[in-house]
Amino acid sequence: MSMVASNIKTKVPFLDLRVTDDNERQNLLAAVDAMLRHGRIVLGPEVQELEREIALRCGRKYGVGVNSGTDALYLGLKSLGIGKGDEVITTVLSWIATANAIALTGATPIFADIDDDLNVDPARVERLITPRTKALMSVHYTGKMCRMTQLMQIANEHNLLVVEDASQAFDARYQGRIAGSFGDIACFSMNPMKVFAACGEAGMVVTDREDIYEKLISLRYNGTINREECVETSLNGRLDTLQAAILLRRLDGVKDIIQKRREIASWYDPQLKDVVGIPKEAGGEEDVYYTYQIRADRRNELKTFLETRGIETKIQHPYLMADQPAYQHLQQKIFPNARRLVERILCIPAHEKLTRADIDYVASNIREFYG
Ligand SMILES: Cc1ncc(COP(=O)(O)O)c(C=O)c1O
Repeated sequence: MSMVASNIKTKVPFLDLRVTDDNERQNLLAAVDAMLRHGRIVLGPEVQELEREIALRCGRKYGVGVNSGTDALYLGLKSLGIGKGDEVITTVLSWIATANAIALTGATPIFADIDDDLNVDPARVERLITPRTKALMSVHYTGKMCRMTQLMQIANEHNLLVVEDASQAFDARYQGRIAGSFGDIACFSMNPMKVFAACGEAGMVVTDREDIYEKLISLRYNGTINREECVETSLNGRLDTLQAAILLRRLDGVKDIIQKRREIASWYDPQLKDVVGIPKEAGGEEDVYYTYQIRADRRNELKTFLETRGIETKIQHPYLMADQPAYQHLQQKIFPNARRLVERILCIPAHEKLTRADIDYVASNIREFYG
């Protein structure tokens, strides 16, 4: 538990969701105004335009806007026919939505250990394949893509479907290829914390398969066709026109946000590399730094120390998914790498509104902590 007095003023916030730029605020308000005027509040033209834009960006034929990243994963898995009796292999370190989406279909999440880059280790994935395995779900954690070439090869050899959970990795690259362009489907979250962010909940599935596209259109509206006839039980997971309109206005700015986050990483790297583990990029990779996660000795003490200096940090995530109370029944416990790393990871502030002075302040305090 944190022992920090509550009167310490925050100097470097972990997140800042205010819209402080006047031009941006006017732009977003204009999007809302346009929607109020045309009045197609549900599945209005902005939804389709955003679907086209994101599909195009990912080099895909279809995009389907949904209510959240969680919906994208859950409805995406359902659209692939995954359900009871199936196993889906995924990383053990992710936001719990990844596991929940699998479990809610009736399938069993099979958790694989991670590598030092915090992404799933392809060699471990391969060892977990059984006759029940139907799909691999690769989570591009922290905004760094998984080793997709290896994962796709494993999937092809074993005839498995691939779902990319690209929630944290909009516009990231692996071997020059964009996130969302690998799997049978790829899923995005555009919740307000993300690099490409709505002002509320939002998600997207992209695919090249027409059958999957048709199925998703039905699944996102209670499993209906022709708006009335229900052919499969599902839920209401439509993307709001309002959020689509905001996202469309923000789409052009994503490149700048990513560039700034990459610049922030380049400010942190040289200052921190001798005192803590830092994220690393190999050739052909372009991480988007949804989070900048260090690997720190005495992590909890460091976190408390930084709080006393007005620096907000977060542990993402303190629990491995297999250790969550809701997943105890699966009895999956052996993750040596993830267990070592989960005690050491810490996300330090890295959002695009921070200045060079903020970053230097955080870095110098981390250096001071380690003497
Ligand atoms: C890796 C991952 N998967 C899924 C989700 C779920 O997305 P949402 O919050 O939009 O439902 C998130 C959101 O943080 C995420 O980080």
